[in-house]
Amino acid sequence: MMPRRLVTVCVAFLLGLALCGLSPAQKTSSKHKHEAQKQSFGTREGRAVNLYTLTNAHGVEIRAMNYGGIITSIRVPDRKGQLADVVLGHETLEGYTPNPPYLGAVVGRYANRIANGTFMLDGKTYTLPKNDGPNTLHGGVKRTFDKVVWDDEALQGNNGVAFSYLSKDGEEGFPGNLKLKVTYTLMDSNELVINYEATTDKATPINVSQHSYFNLAGEGTGDILGHELMLNADRFTPVDKNLIPTGELRPVKGTPMDFTTPTKIGARIDDNYEQLVLGKGYDHNFVINRKGSGMTLAARAYEPASGRVLEVSTDQPGVQFYSGNFLDGTVTGKQGHVYKRRYGFCLETQHFPDSPNHPDFPSTILRPGETFHTKTVFKFSTR
Ligand code: GLA
Repeated sequence: MMPRRLVTVCVAFLLGLALCGLSPAQKTSSKHKHEAQKQSFGTREGRAVNLYTLTNAHGVEIRAMNYGGIITSIRVPDRKGQLADVVLGHETLEGYTPNPPYLGAVVGRYANRIANGTFMLDGKTYTLPKNDGPNTLHGGVKRTFDKVVWDDEALQGNNGVAFSYLSKDGEEGFPGNLKLKVTYTLMDSNELVINYEATTDKATPINVSQHSYFNLAGEGTGDILGHELMLNADRFTPVDKNLIPTGELRPVKGTPMDFTTPTKIGARIDDNYEQLVLGKGYDHNFVINRKGSGMTLAARAYEPASGRVLEVSTDQPGVQFYSGNFLDGTVTGKQGHVYKRRYGFCLETQHFPDSPNHPDFPSTILRPGETFHTKTVFKFSTR
């Protein structure tokens, strides 16, 4: 029998030989296996659209593209380790053009509504294209963040991707050349970290959000009414018949808007409560309880059958909880799945809707010389 030391030396020698035999490409791929992988996904506006895949040590896989900054899929394990895609979306770029529900997209320049498509800033009135009755929703009509090609690059030394977009002065009626960058980074803690950064050369309102529709049981498998939701919000901003905030910050206590303790989304969704009737379900901005301006837990969703949990943290003042009321079966998504009413829900971290017309709401005005920065984290786990 060979002495143990000799065995160790031989094994080490053989391993060394094996490693030398690897091609440089193989070595690179194993060393950098947690960096974004890029593949081409088509063209729009004569520009290349690229799809980036991020994977982590637990097999979580997130895909996002530079068309609309869209997150196309998020595959996370259930309590038994079984992976499923938990966001609504499409398998091809064509599926997203057009994308009326804003599936997975970055929305802006002003996420959510601006009443009557108009606001005043520094004494000047601005008029925006209307696309939601009398309002402007998610930035306008043509060149909104969800339907343009962004510049793209994989993050160096990080498991992430950066998308950048220059929204030109006057685009969709907004003032100033706005340079915006969003980064998606996947951590081994199963957190997707979303950072937004922007500068402008003229004062402008800005409100950006991520419009992913979640179904933690797996996209296309049914409605989301059985998910248990906790919203860290003692108040919400009630809306008028056009879904514009009235200005009131109303306590949720004693109403079907109270998610301060985990409650099934479907438990009260069709109650005869004026705000639910107006929204055709939940489509409201909740005022996140916070001490100071840092990262705070905004929401936690739990799907009992799979055990999957999503936690949303943010530095923003609000979160729009939208229960997918306008999905109506006209969009067919991945694997031929038909997205029916309430098949997905959104937790859109944001400033309050229509803030430019509500001086009492936290300001959304970015001025030259300032840098806009905001962060949201989607954390996935099971229980
Ligand atoms: C936001 C709005 C909703 C709806 C969706 C997209 O959540 O508040 O009313 O427009 O976006 O359909």
